[in-house]
Amino acid sequence: MSMRNTHKTFGNVAKGIHWIMVLGFIALYVIGYYMTSLPLGPEMFEKIGIHKSIGFIVLVLAVLRLAWRLINPTPDLPDEMPPIERLGAHLSHIALYAVMIVMPLSGWAMSSAANFPISVFGWFTLPSIMAPSKPAVEFLKEFHEVMAVCILVLLAVHVAAALKHHFINKDDVLTRILPFHKGH
Ligand code: HEM
Repeated sequence: MSMRNTHKTFGNVAKGIHWIMVLGFIALYVIGYYMTSLPLGPEMFEKIGIHKSIGFIVLVLAVLRLAWRLINPTPDLPDEMPPIERLGAHLSHIALYAVMIVMPLSGWAMSSAANFPISVFGWFTLPSIMAPSKPAVEFLKEFHEVMAVCILVLLAVHVAAALKHHFINKDDVLTRILPFHKGH
């Protein structure tokens, strides 16, 4: 099984990052909604710290993933797929790449605007990317919250499309991104 993608299937790198990213997103949502339900205090700050650390890892992986995609072929969509569905697949993948980068960046900017440093798992501290500003914190907080819901909708469509390919169209679109699946 190759590291690189082919016109038929995803390689190990793309598969690996895809599924690590799935775990990352699940963790971000679970911790994100849990920490905002906590009263202000040490537990809340600890969970926010974990959320930010995972968000930064997701950002790095997203950039690497995008770079990897640009220097690799992408598996072709099934020949029988109608043009409107092809367009939907392309646009939704572009949107997913965009949110994987914009969402963590908006969190990083929010922290900078609030003048809170981000320590990634205590390993190192990220530089500030914007000047402290109360209105910016308010805006970015709202943006982060609204985007979280939009991304959930996008992911629901993404997963539904994957399941439709597998169970209704019975093509290899889902299996070719699964780890431990050889592909063709
Ligand atoms: C259980 C959850 C998920 C399932 C079942 C799933 C399924 C799939 C499948 C089947 C593909 C391959 C499409 C193709 O062959 O053209 C794919 C691609 C992709 N997925 Fe997911 N996915 C899931 C979660 C996620 C998450 C959480 C993200 C990131 C936020 C994500 C981002 C992407 C992106 C960007 C692509 C396009 C890859 C490329 O063409 O470079 N997926 N996904």
